Amino acid sequence: MKPIKKAVFPVAGMGTRFLPATKANPKEMLPVVDKPLIQYAAEEAVAAGIDTLIFVTGRNKRSIEDHFDTAYELERELEERNKEKMLRIVREILPPEVKCVFIRQSEALGLGHAVLCAKPVVGDEPFAVILADDLITSSDKPVLSQMVDVYDYQHCSVLGVQEVPMEEVHQYGVVDARDASDRVYEVRGMVEKPAQADAPSNLAVVGRYILTPKLFELLETQERGAGNEIQLTDAIARLLGNQRVLAYNFNGKRFDCGSKLGYLQAQVEYALAHDEVGDEFREYLLGLDLGPSIASKRAANG
Ligand code: G1P
Repeated sequence: MKPIKKAVFPVAGMGTRFLPATKANPKEMLPVVDKPLIQYAAEEAVAAGIDTLIFVTGRNKRSIEDHFDTAYELERELEERNKEKMLRIVREILPPEVKCVFIRQSEALGLGHAVLCAKPVVGDEPFAVILADDLITSSDKPVLSQMVDVYDYQHCSVLGVQEVPMEEVHQYGVVDARDASDRVYEVRGMVEKPAQADAPSNLAVVGRYILTPKLFELLETQERGAGNEIQLTDAIARLLGNQRVLAYNFNGKRFDCGSKLGYLQAQVEYALAHDEVGDEFREYLLGLDLGPSIASKRAANG
């Protein structure tokens, strides 16, 4: 089996849940403290040994390309002003050997379709998919690196999963998986956004996938599913007819930065852990008088 060298970042979504912030800016460029979400995702890929980042983009996503490109004017200005530290931050966004490829998804036909758009660049190799709005921290190695370890040992597709409350399964791709051993489950089936009563488990896929190239063949003939979109989940469910697929219950904490609450939680936790502002931010939080909740104020006001 070939090593995992390529990662696909589907970034064409409209980010409607963050309007108006995402009216002219991609949601993947929203920062958590001082780094955009897409940079955390790119760093996780690079840490896992990936050397080609494939961004499947759409309208209004130019700033993602600019972010990973050289910023000559900015670098010159920082140089002239002797801002060494800033210059390093700007220059070291990605190691020089890492290549970025941008592909345009011209129609918003769903996550499965976005991944299929990367086929000409991925070719006949296993690859990773990272959804940048699932931000995951880990005290162990980064999640994608944990998954690459599973892949290196098992040589098959690996899905990053997490237990979620049953009331939330309808937001996810949910796996039918049994026989856990050391966080690894054998996947028997998979459903995209099931109703609670139809969910095979509460193990949800959260934005990390290692997939074999056989998946592209299935995506090419994949019919529309949930939300009338071409779903990655449905193609993976069909892949099960041909190949083994594993689910890996990763060691880490995931923030759903596609939702306002998850994004705010990420801000707080990343800020508390931040070298420069962490301690002062902690003091600030400790000194806050939180006051009554908005709901109780509303109730008091009738
Ligand atoms: C997508 C996938 C879903 C997965 C989720 C993880 O859904 O379709 O299977 O569980 O990401 O965040 P979306 O959040 O784009 O609706």
